[in-house]
Amino acid sequence: MGILEAVDLAKRFGDVQAVDGISLTVGTGEIAGLLGPNGAGKSTTLHMLLGLVTPDSGTVRMFGLDLARHRTEVLSRVNFSASYLGLPGVLHVREVLDAFARLYGLRRPRRRVAEIVDLLDLGALARRKVIELSSGQHTRVQLAKALLNEPRLLILDEPTAALDPDAGDRIRGLLVRVARETGTALLITSHNMREVERMCDRIHFVSAGRIVARGSAAELASDFGVDDLEEVFLKVAREGTVPA
Ligand SMILES: Nc1ncnc2c1ncn2[C@@H]1O[C@H](COP(=O)(O)OP(=O)(O)OP(=O)(O)O)[C@@H](O)[C@H]1O
Ligand SMILES: [Mg+2]
Repeated sequence: MGILEAVDLAKRFGDVQAVDGISLTVGTGEIAGLLGPNGAGKSTTLHMLLGLVTPDSGTVRMFGLDLARHRTEVLSRVNFSASYLGLPGVLHVREVLDAFARLYGLRRPRRRVAEIVDLLDLGALARRKVIELSSGQHTRVQLAKALLNEPRLLILDEPTAALDPDAGDRIRGLLVRVARETGTALLITSHNMREVERMCDRIHFVSAGRIVARGSAAELASDFGVDDLEEVFLKVAREGTVPA
């Protein structure tokens, strides 16, 4: 069964056609990447998949169910992380995770929070207030929150942007392990081409609200006649080139 199937999504904000007919599928355990220049429509697409933005047209199905009609059931199996999401600053990290664990109605909230604190190495930060965290530490807490409910689909908008190379490497390793070991599907955006090459099974290239190319990193490089994904990106962004 497909985890995610989006068909012909479109969204306009005033004069800006942010998303102009995007279709994509993500399968069990797949790590999919949404790439493209600033303003291409990636975040808007993710927000439509999460029911945060209502599409002008198009449909989203997850786990075989229509998102618009089965919103609560569908979204209970999904989670999302992005650096622009706030967390309550006055709470301690553990209090935040406890609150989300209860919000998600987890069966064993304490045990799951302990597992996640361990998994993301947050022990030393558990009693720190959110407002005191560095941006990289905040990112790790966001990811912890996003993994709490053991989502079948994890949507991550630039998950490693604030992380130092070491922390980024650990988080990439962790996310790949989660996908491979539990079958959780990942849909991520990133401007880090090495990261995308390392992590993503399939890449959907967005430009001006449309998908202009897709495939694995190797397939895209070969289709565009270049050496790597960075060069593919530059071609798409600067020349608007699409392979014949
Ligand atoms: N709520 C909104 N109201 C008005 N315009 C919006 C809104 N959200 C997005 N846009 C516009 O839609 C377009 C797509 O934005 P979006 O955030 O989806 O791009 P993106 O691909 O995520 O870019 P980036 O790489 O910079 O994060 C942009 O022109 C943006 O200004
Ligand atoms: Mg964005």
